[in-house]
Amino acid sequence: KANGLAQTPQMGWNSWNKFGCNIDEKTVRRIADAMATSGMRDAGYEYVVIDDCWHGDRDANGFIQESREKFPSGMKALADYVHSRGLKFGIYSDAGTKTCGGKPGSLGHEYQDALTYARWGVDYLKYDWCSTGTLNAESAYALMSDALKATGRPVLLAICEWGNNRPWEWGKKIGNSWRTSSDIRDAWKGREKWSIGVVDIVDVNEPLYPHAGPGHWNDADMLEVGNGGMTDTEYRSHFSLWSLMASPLIAGNDITNMSAETRAILLNKEVVAVNQDRLGQQGRRVRDDGDLEVWSKPLADGSRAVILFNRSEKPAEIAVDWPEIGLTRSVRADVRDLWAHRSVGKIAGRYAARVPAHGVVMVRVTP
Ligand code: DGJ
Repeated sequence: KANGLAQTPQMGWNSWNKFGCNIDEKTVRRIADAMATSGMRDAGYEYVVIDDCWHGDRDANGFIQESREKFPSGMKALADYVHSRGLKFGIYSDAGTKTCGGKPGSLGHEYQDALTYARWGVDYLKYDWCSTGTLNAESAYALMSDALKATGRPVLLAICEWGNNRPWEWGKKIGNSWRTSSDIRDAWKGREKWSIGVVDIVDVNEPLYPHAGPGHWNDADMLEVGNGGMTDTEYRSHFSLWSLMASPLIAGNDITNMSAETRAILLNKEVVAVNQDRLGQQGRRVRDDGDLEVWSKPLADGSRAVILFNRSEKPAEIAVDWPEIGLTRSVRADVRDLWAHRSVGKIAGRYAARVPAHGVVMVRVTP
């Protein structure tokens, strides 16, 4: 049975993309403060999630403990601190014997770990898939899902299985989101053994659009916006596409130290509103002219979010024709540019714009 959470894609921050295994309570407190003061919290970023490597050992009775070096005040105190900033608190574990970072996994300790998390005040669990041997993925995630429910505390469950066991076919009743690819890399494109660039993730995640909906989302992985490996134009494309694909928006940068451009991307409320639209329909590609594409997402008020996407190495004009986003040609629609923050006018038939290399123009078309 579903837990009722994530009726729109979850938003928040996670430690992994920027800090990896170098995560401690001082950093998490600084991030929680910055989430509250930077406008992130008020823009909808709600969960502060600690990824891998927070763990110490299990105690004599098998209860998991936090690393006392990294979290000297204890996880409960840290959760209280995050809650006191008006935010929710998330943590990470793994379905196997060990996490990907070699820390104790939850296998054989599922109910005990869920109870520990509930005692600490955890609101979100990201559950990874390293060291799982011959485990059945659906049963393993269902077991932790049941364990969380048995605590009586509502805990969002983010399935992190990378798409190999087709989680979109069974994840709906078990968790609130499922990863669809291996790990994102702070790069425009390219597939390596364990990581994959932004446009490659887009191609993996896009065809799965029929499986997303309120409470259960395709997770295209955490954001790299602000981490330095891409241009701001590329980060705008990354953020626009994640928003249109109704992917969870989990910032992965150092919130305490953001450039004005990074801030303007993560805090673009008009683009966030597309992601958080209550209809909860994942947008998709409606035209593919090689490197030039048109994407569309139907919204609750009858409008469409549209992305004109230029994958090529030079600027290009791209046009959207009303019929391809489900409008009759003669309809006069209001077109609003969501990055320029201005209305372009009442337009019939089609809208064309010049799009920078690796860039997007994102508009909201309201008939
Ligand atoms: C693999 C996951 O896909 C990543 O997002 C991250 O959680 C690492 N494991 C942590 O080891």
